[in-house]
Amino acid sequence: MYKIAVIPGDGIGKEVMEATLHVLEAVDVEFDYTFADAGDEYMEKTGVALPQETVEIVKASQACLFGAAGESAADVIVKLRQELELYANIRPAKSYPGTKCLFDNVDFVIVRENTEGLYIGLEEESEEGATALRVTTRKAAERICKYAFEYAKKTGRKKVTAVHKANVLKKTDGLFRETFYQVAKDYPDMELDDRYVDATAMFFITRPEMFDVIVTTNLFGDILSDEAAGLAGGLGLAPSANVGEKIGLFEPVHGSAPDHAGKGTANPSAMILSAVLMLDYLEENDAARKLENALVEVLAEGKAVTGDLGGNASTMEMAVEVRKKL
Ligand code: NAI
Ligand code: MG
Repeated sequence: MYKIAVIPGDGIGKEVMEATLHVLEAVDVEFDYTFADAGDEYMEKTGVALPQETVEIVKASQACLFGAAGESAADVIVKLRQELELYANIRPAKSYPGTKCLFDNVDFVIVRENTEGLYIGLEEESEEGATALRVTTRKAAERICKYAFEYAKKTGRKKVTAVHKANVLKKTDGLFRETFYQVAKDYPDMELDDRYVDATAMFFITRPEMFDVIVTTNLFGDILSDEAAGLAGGLGLAPSANVGEKIGLFEPVHGSAPDHAGKGTANPSAMILSAVLMLDYLEENDAARKLENALVEVLAEGKAVTGDLGGNASTMEMAVEVRKKL
């Protein structure tokens, strides 16, 4: 029995969460859910987007499923990442038959450093303009590289690629690349290489099959993961994980999608695939594969799918179909 915090949030967050919990009932793993509030709607009522009570509920759980927030998303998710020290952001990109993937052989995972780099928020105005500080610490670089190798090992992947711009950012990314090769010494069976971020952006859309696990710094990871989501069929299909030492938080990449909210037309796949990531995180790998395969069957048949995938099923109808396959 796993203790799971559930934060449905706003808009389609609530709808894809309901659909996903319906599917999870048919998975052979027992969950003890605690529901918690966060987001725009909660803020309208109380003046805060993320109450401390929610943070405590998440801290007392083994994992958290998060739907989406609206305008308050940055406050909610950034604060949760800080409070829970979620230092690794995991974004898989995979082509599933029946979706709008640009290639049929995409299957890689981006592991993004989530705590430093150019996103520490140290910007300064000066007379000439403005500057931003970019930070790489040995500790964070080591931690994220180690996470990437462990993740590769655990999920049966063969190769880890460090992505950087060490030719220009000689000190910060130089340290990142050096740390990567040091950590790699503990994983002699893993293939490895490193690439520049600009070339990587190009190879995503010319030879995506060359990537397996990618580890990179905060800004590069942010941009590359959206490119990867576009490559692999769009926001309706893109899941993510935010992982720390103690807990993992799993959420679709998309937001509250006001244009779909309340209509029951949102694609639940990204949230369902986020639950697959959660099952893998809990080392319930058999259950994870079963759930993923059930979704893959429904996508491939292309009948009970939502509008963005060319069908006319509702969010819940698609979930019911996935559950039937289980
Ligand atoms: P969005 O991801 O909500 O929507 C972007 C586009 O993708 C829209 O056209 C939407 O209809 C479509 N889309 C997204 N998810 C879909 C799904 N499951 N099925 C079918 N179509 C889907 O991003 P947008 O429009 O930039 O932001 C809307 C709100 O969401 C904003 O208030 C924003 O702050 C919030 N947001 C929250 C995030 C989070 O909670 N992690 C992440 C991104 C945005
Ligand atoms: Mg982003």
